[in-house]
Amino acid sequence: MRSLVRLFSVLVVLIYVQPSLATMVPNDYEFVPEGEVEDTAKLIGSIKSQLKDHRDAHAKAHGCVDGIKVKVLSNLPRELQVGFFAKAGEEYSAILRSSSGPGVKTASDLEPGAQGFALKILLKPEDQKKVLSPPGENASFAPAEYPKHYKTFDIVTISRAREFFVNKVHDYFDFFGAQGAIGAAKAKAKAEGKSEEEIAAIGPALLKKLYIAPEGKAPRLKEAALLGLLGQAKTKNPLWETYGSWVPSLYGKRAVKYEFTPCEKVDPDKYEVPIEGWDTNPNFLREVLKYELRQGDQCYRLRVQFHEKGMPSVEDAAYAWSTEISDYVDVAEITIPKKEAGKELISEDLCETLSFHPGHAFAEHYPIGGVQRARVGGKDKEGKEYKGIYTVISEQRNLNRGKTPIFFR
Ligand code: HEM
Repeated sequence: MRSLVRLFSVLVVLIYVQPSLATMVPNDYEFVPEGEVEDTAKLIGSIKSQLKDHRDAHAKAHGCVDGIKVKVLSNLPRELQVGFFAKAGEEYSAILRSSSGPGVKTASDLEPGAQGFALKILLKPEDQKKVLSPPGENASFAPAEYPKHYKTFDIVTISRAREFFVNKVHDYFDFFGAQGAIGAAKAKAKAEGKSEEEIAAIGPALLKKLYIAPEGKAPRLKEAALLGLLGQAKTKNPLWETYGSWVPSLYGKRAVKYEFTPCEKVDPDKYEVPIEGWDTNPNFLREVLKYELRQGDQCYRLRVQFHEKGMPSVEDAAYAWSTEISDYVDVAEITIPKKEAGKELISEDLCETLSFHPGHAFAEHYPIGGVQRARVGGKDKEGKEYKGIYTVISEQRNLNRGKTPIFFR
């Protein structure tokens, strides 16, 4: 009888502590909820069904910049010398894609909103072997002369916030639905000749009704605060912004969020735009980026914030990690090099083709938490790998552009 009781209690403990599904890299942080694999597939289906020949989010690039130097800090403490950061003082070359948030290429820079900053770090052959490709990705669409662009370490960030305005994968359906409804209502109002003010009021009203406080559901207050913050962001220089990953990744056995911040403390709202007529130019951020690149090297730092006990779960993407408990620490120095006039940006075609993907990472830095699993894919109950949003969507948009994949293995 006693052994039966013991067996029963072991089973209870196992059922309680075992995540319901497997994770890509075993860790102490993730807990995969039932239904997430199905939700991810549904989400991919919705995005794919309306996908054109460009990114479905962050469609408009201000530009891609190459020759960026990423140097692991020479004096990086020994306990932080892990994975990509294992060799203190080592230098790598990277490509930056600076973008605005909306899923249309015609988005106006005069409208408020956060900006994307995606870094693709090119690796040496011995390090390329350590990159764990995201499930289902075995090809690159970059030209054959760029095989280095396949096995890279990518860090994808956005300005002005440190958390994501969608807490769990399942919540994304309400957000996605609200976005669709807003687009349709705005188009209708425009066709009916409604005033600018009337059209501008549609977004906040529908967002509130369908996402922030939908009938019969608890209001999403943290998400509302984050969306409010991003809705006020008036970016004037992409190189004066601080950018965060919003969602976590591993750093060895620990969990972190990433941040890129200018070395010199600057107030992004105080930047005086040096471009004549910028305040009527919907594409002025590209001009500012090029202007700043011509002026000289720009210095950024890559920092990480470690997850500590008592902080919100990595599964709750909208919940802040307190900097009072764990402040960001520097791990690498980034130099965005001075460029000659006319040579500031790489070709539009390559910039458009490249996939900046949070799943392009060493096992030691693999993305974790629900939102990340939806982006990069994972393993289902049977341990079978399934593709994530970025893998399917970046492939499909390139196929839609008539690009041919190059297979590497
Ligand atoms: C479930 C949540 C999310 C969905 C459905 C989603 C969807 C997408 C899609 C479809 C793309 C285009 C990928 C491509 O075609 O190459 C994209 C790009 C991007 N996403 Fe997300 N995303 C999510 C979460 C996030 C989060 C948390 C961040 C925070 C940093 C983020 C930042 C970006 C950026 C900066 C890009 C542009 C990357 C580039 O320059 O190529 N996304 N996202």
